Order: sequence, then structure tokens, then C-alpha cells
Amino acid sequence: MSAASTETIRLAAIGDLHVTEASEHRYRELFAEISEAADVLALCGDLTNFGKVREAEILAEDLRECTIPVVGVLGNHDYECGQAEEVARILHGAGMTVLGEQAVVIKEVGFAGVKGFLGGFGRGELGAFGEPPIKAFVDAALDEARKLENALRSLRTERNVTVLHYAPVADTVEGEPLEIYPFLGCSRLADAIDRFDHVSAVVHGHAHRGRHRGRTPRGVPVYNCAQMVMMAETGRPYALIEV
Ligand SMILES: [Fe+2]
Ligand SMILES: [Fe+2]
Repeated sequence: MSAASTETIRLAAIGDLHVTEASEHRYRELFAEISEAADVLALCGDLTNFGKVREAEILAEDLRECTIPVVGVLGNHDYECGQAEEVARILHGAGMTVLGEQAVVIKEVGFAGVKGFLGGFGRGELGAFGEPPIKAFVDAALDEARKLENALRSLRTERNVTVLHYAPVADTVEGEPLEIYPFLGCSRLADAIDRFDHVSAVVHGHAHRGRHRGRTPRGVPVYNCAQMVMMAETGRPYALIEV
């Protein structure tokens, strides 16, 4: 093992920015602060409120304040207006590497990420049985898990981070009403992560009232980094994680 590969990096992670057309430059100072505090920034989806082009442009202007590498995934809100590709293109233009089937390596740490999908956890997970719309729904969840697995498999790095929007475990949605757990994420994402021994941390958002820390069944640390969760936990809107 080389000396460089044991050097930890400081990862900042934040989800659920929900930038609106009215929120001009709300994150400019925050991104400057994060650039001082961390080596890499991960954005965990719901970056815009309705997935509007103008919202993405406003965030892109703020993102240009960031002087460290930025990786990220979109969230369900970024799909609302049917312009997710355009939103992703604008954020990519501002320097964010949009994770998907392709993973990236930054400072000897691998980053693999997908939006993920919903469907429930553990024994409460919806199965592909019965009506075609249910099978299509479960297929969407399986497809995200498959993309994540492929991205993780492509990484040869010893330390790797998974970036999601939806939660992979129920631990980090605790605090939300039990009735909506199935809409906050799905275990299929954790199944994909737990097939590997090289994942150091998982960051996600989406569950605004969830809990910051959890683990996958095989013990990989999972962090809900929705800014509302982080504010409640630390008084600042982002997480700082040593990887
Ligand atoms: Fe959100
Ligand atoms: Fe969300």
C-alpha cells in the first residue's frame, strides 16, 4: 500500500438544497466555506425544487464558488419538470461530475452514485409480483441498484464512497412517519453496496426528517446528509466525513 493511498480525505456532503427561482445565490457563501473545510463535495440530490432550468442555472452560478471537486446525483425533485437531462447538463457545466453508470476517482478515492429509487426496506420491500405497473415500479428500483453495482464493480480503488438520493437503509429515515418509509428508499441499494468490501461510506438525502447515521446490514456506514437533518444534528447544513 502506498503512503498516498492511506491519506484520508475530508468529504463534505449535502442533499436537498431545493433551489427555487426565488433563492438567488443562497449557497454561494456556503460553497466557499465548504471549499475551505473539505477536499471533495458530494451533492445528494434534490438540488432544485422543481427541476426547472432557471433553478439549475441559479445553483450553477453558486456552484462556481466551489474550488474543490464536486460530484453528485439528482433527486426526485430534479425530475419534476421532465427536464432532468438539461438540469444535469447545466450542473455539469458548473463543474459537478454527475455520477451514474460511470464512477470517478478523486484523490485516490472512488465515487459511485445513482439517484436510487423507492420501494421499502427489508421485509417491507415491494416485490415484482402481480400487475404490470407494480413490476415496472420494482424494475425501476432494480435498474438503479444495477447501475450502482456496475459503477462500484468498475472501481479498483481501496476506499470508495457511494452517493445516493434515496436511502438504502431504514436506519437513516428514522424520525419520518412510519407510513412513508416505503417512499424514502429501498434495500435494493444496500444489497448492491454490500456485495463489495471496498465501500467506506454511503451518503444520501431525501428523508428531510431522518437520522444522520446508520449502517448497511454488512456494517458500511450510511449518512443521511439532507441539509435539514444536518442542521438539526450539527447546526451546519452539511456533513464532514473523513474517508
Ligand atoms: Fe428533498
Ligand atoms: Fe427527494
